[in-house]
Amino acid sequence: MFPPDFLWGAATAAYQIEGAATEDGRTPSIWDTFSHTPGRTVNGDTGDVACDHYHRYRDDVKLMADLGLRSYRFSLSWPRIQPGGTGPASRRGLDFYRGLVDELLENGIEPWVTLYHWDLPQELEDAGGWPSRDTARRFADYAALAHEALGDRVRFWTTFNEPWCSAFLGYGSGAHAPGRTDPGDSVRAAHHLMLGHGLALQAIGSAGITLNLYAISPASSSAADLDAARRIDGLANRIFLDPLLRGAYPVDVVSDLSGVTDMSHVRDGDLAVISSPLSVLGVNYYSRHVVGAPVVGEVPTPYWRKQTCWPGSEDVRFVTRGLPVTDMNWEIDAPGLVETLTRLHAEYPAVPLYVTENGAAFVDEVVDGEVSDPLRVAYFDAHLRACQEAIEAGVPLRGYFAWSLMDNFEWAWGYTKRFGMIHVDYATQLRTPKTSARWYADVIRRNGLAA
Ligand code: NOJ
Repeated sequence: MFPPDFLWGAATAAYQIEGAATEDGRTPSIWDTFSHTPGRTVNGDTGDVACDHYHRYRDDVKLMADLGLRSYRFSLSWPRIQPGGTGPASRRGLDFYRGLVDELLENGIEPWVTLYHWDLPQELEDAGGWPSRDTARRFADYAALAHEALGDRVRFWTTFNEPWCSAFLGYGSGAHAPGRTDPGDSVRAAHHLMLGHGLALQAIGSAGITLNLYAISPASSSAADLDAARRIDGLANRIFLDPLLRGAYPVDVVSDLSGVTDMSHVRDGDLAVISSPLSVLGVNYYSRHVVGAPVVGEVPTPYWRKQTCWPGSEDVRFVTRGLPVTDMNWEIDAPGLVETLTRLHAEYPAVPLYVTENGAAFVDEVVDGEVSDPLRVAYFDAHLRACQEAIEAGVPLRGYFAWSLMDNFEWAWGYTKRFGMIHVDYATQLRTPKTSARWYADVIRRNGLAA
């Protein structure tokens, strides 16, 4: 059973849907630069137009209201609100978000704001980006500007979305903007993202954060495979969870990283700032990592070939189990969500939990004006059953956000991967709710799954 006030929502992010990349004073972010660099995204896709949500937000909010959403999770574009990443707020940038928030509230939809979903102003990257400590201070200033303008109407604030991706894909593997490949920088970036989180939280009074957490399993019970699982759990989960919730880096992770960095970028007092009490912890859950010790001569699986997103543990082997996969090639593993949620509850101090993202890309087609997506329905159904199981086991799970409200710019994959409950025809911007949208509307109406 889901509690009566369970927050049912759907999520998006600014660069993935807004478009209007050069309008109303917005300056480039690292994703504009990256996506406009040949070879960085599939088909050279960019977020220049995306879903044109900037001009169509009123219609999009109507679609959300039709779904019966209780909440909508979206992100603010830093270079729209504070062009260039320093100085005063842009009135025109803020006006867009004021309009969106008002429209949501008028439709009875609770706005859930993420301050940073990967679009660092390019000027701040040029000044050093997240490996540089000053970026954390800049972020806190921006957070204060945004909160001053919207804090009277928005109750839910989260600082960062998936800092793991910003740090380890952005500065380690280079698969994401800004596309740098320095393992030491990726670890420094992770720290300064968390420091920015803590400083921003203190500046605005109360906030949460969203992490992409994974269930992790060893490929076998051999000591070497167990150690690989410990390492990847350290770099995927505990490197964020421990500083944020326990005020300390895990000792084993620091030791695993000793060939990469001496952690001298961590200053006295940082961990106290980072561990300021969270209002909520957002969990983005998609799949499980099954890992083992390296096998001599084995070629790593393609997705993980750029192993520098695991600094110091580059040789760990990622194993596939032959489970059904989504169009991202991610194995579908709903029990991993139960595991992730119950583990958080058991091992870390209590904090209200929300699944801030969960969903799947599949190849969808419009046939006679309809999109039938039974695989996505099955994915949501299985993961909502997992949420239910966690709640029944005593986990304080307060809400669930489907990723995504609509098809959008899937980062390095461009428009080739569709995660939406609403189909977007990028040539016409026509929106078509898929079967999963209607199914989800029923779930919300019923406050749970059909028996
Ligand atoms: C994580 C990110 O927060 C989101 O931007 C992305 O589109 C989805 N997961 C799917 O990969």
